[in-house]
Amino acid sequence: MNAPALTPSLRRPVPQACLDALAAHFGDRLSLNPSVREHHGRDESPYPAVPPDAVVFAESTEDVVAAVQACAAHGVPLIAYGSGSSLEGHVLAIEGGITLDVSRMNRVLSVNPDDLTVTVQAGVTRKQLNNEIRDTGLFFPIDPGADASLGGMAATRASGTNAVRYGTMRDNIVSLTVVTAQGKVIRTARRAKKSSAGYDLTRLFIGSEGTLGIITEVTVRLYPQPEAVSAAVCNFSSVDAAVAAVIQTIQMGIPVARVELLDTATVRALNLYSKLTLRETPLLLFEFHGSPAGVEEQATTVQEITREHGGMDFEWAVHPEDRNRLWAARHNAYFATLQLRPGARASSTDVCVPISRLADCIRETNADLAQASFPTCVVGHVGDGNFHVQMLLDPDSEAEWAEAETINRRMVRRALDMDGTCTGEHGVGLHKMQFLAEEHGEDALALMRQVKQAFDPLNILNPGKVLPPPTPFGRPPGGETGGLAEPDPRFP
Ligand code: LAC
Ligand code: ZN
Repeated sequence: MNAPALTPSLRRPVPQACLDALAAHFGDRLSLNPSVREHHGRDESPYPAVPPDAVVFAESTEDVVAAVQACAAHGVPLIAYGSGSSLEGHVLAIEGGITLDVSRMNRVLSVNPDDLTVTVQAGVTRKQLNNEIRDTGLFFPIDPGADASLGGMAATRASGTNAVRYGTMRDNIVSLTVVTAQGKVIRTARRAKKSSAGYDLTRLFIGSEGTLGIITEVTVRLYPQPEAVSAAVCNFSSVDAAVAAVIQTIQMGIPVARVELLDTATVRALNLYSKLTLRETPLLLFEFHGSPAGVEEQATTVQEITREHGGMDFEWAVHPEDRNRLWAARHNAYFATLQLRPGARASSTDVCVPISRLADCIRETNADLAQASFPTCVVGHVGDGNFHVQMLLDPDSEAEWAEAETINRRMVRRALDMDGTCTGEHGVGLHKMQFLAEEHGEDALALMRQVKQAFDPLNILNPGKVLPPPTPFGRPPGGETGGLAEPDPRFP
């Protein structure tokens, strides 16, 4: 894709002495292989790959220390890499340097069922974790679409479909082990449920996208598997009606475990990709957790609410296999929607607004999408006021990219005007840097820069991400106008 101009001019040299130091420690776990580098230079965003100069595969916190020391000694960028499933260009080696792959740090270190916590190495994935703890009767609820690593999820403050009930990574991380830019190993907190001891470094590292330190171990909260679970699908004649039902459900404080919005295009994509037979209208996917009586009560109330908003056929997925199929299909939505336009790359956006503004935000966004010259899909973790738009773009069309950027920018500004955020869960990476000043204000951004300077004075940790650099890197071509010579009359 010809999209945002990724110039190679920002690359810093990697001195041979740095590579020698890495080779001495990592041996054949240091790779200069072009396809390995290429693989690590891209994520699921539409950006073209920007490979690092080399990749090292860490197996322990000590390996991470060695990598940091080698890079710090030579001022070389170091980019932490989990499963490569980020969506906003987080792992692209835009200043060159070394990518630190932590996927081999995949051990569950200690399960503490009595405390409802578990400590894992950063490369453990969410599905692996749930498989390994299944016998304890506990589960870990945070479920972004991809089978992401816990380290990456911590670094991006990830969430998913269960966040409406269980919170995001922000709410579920107890403690982190982090290798600092100076090569020191710190633990940000003990395992106590609460603490008021000093600055909250845990939360500073959560969502820092590898720019403040390298997360090597994560301690998270676990939850008892609910006694009863039931899921239901409800069709609506419009997205508006579905969203109105969600808003009322949340405002009444009904503790739904999941409530996901799919627009008609997304439902069609799921049917095709996952061989489902969902009715192709806007729909809500619900799940309820609790005691059998509690689940029954929640479901009855929600069913009444949906009926008031014209919801049709509240259809139950009673058997666990049906439920799992439905949720597996939902988790594959991103890949499913890609099939709607063979050969397309998806530009996905992700805003989040206070729940009372959700209907307005989605309605106004849909008005823009109706004018778009490419297929689009809307999916949302609507119980959180969070939704995504996937725009399926011809990878070779600059015009389509520019149009998508216009829609994205309008959507973000709309969310900000509603006191929302430019990203509810996908993070900043490269693509959302352009909005951080608008969202936080220059003074708050200046403070963030000082934090970065204090933690990483040599600017070696995932440089050029999160905080917008002085150069217009990461902006769409044409800067403010998104590459459009004239404002597009469709989007006044
Ligand atoms: C989802 C990812 C794309 O919600 O965030 O499917
Ligand atoms: Zn999502």
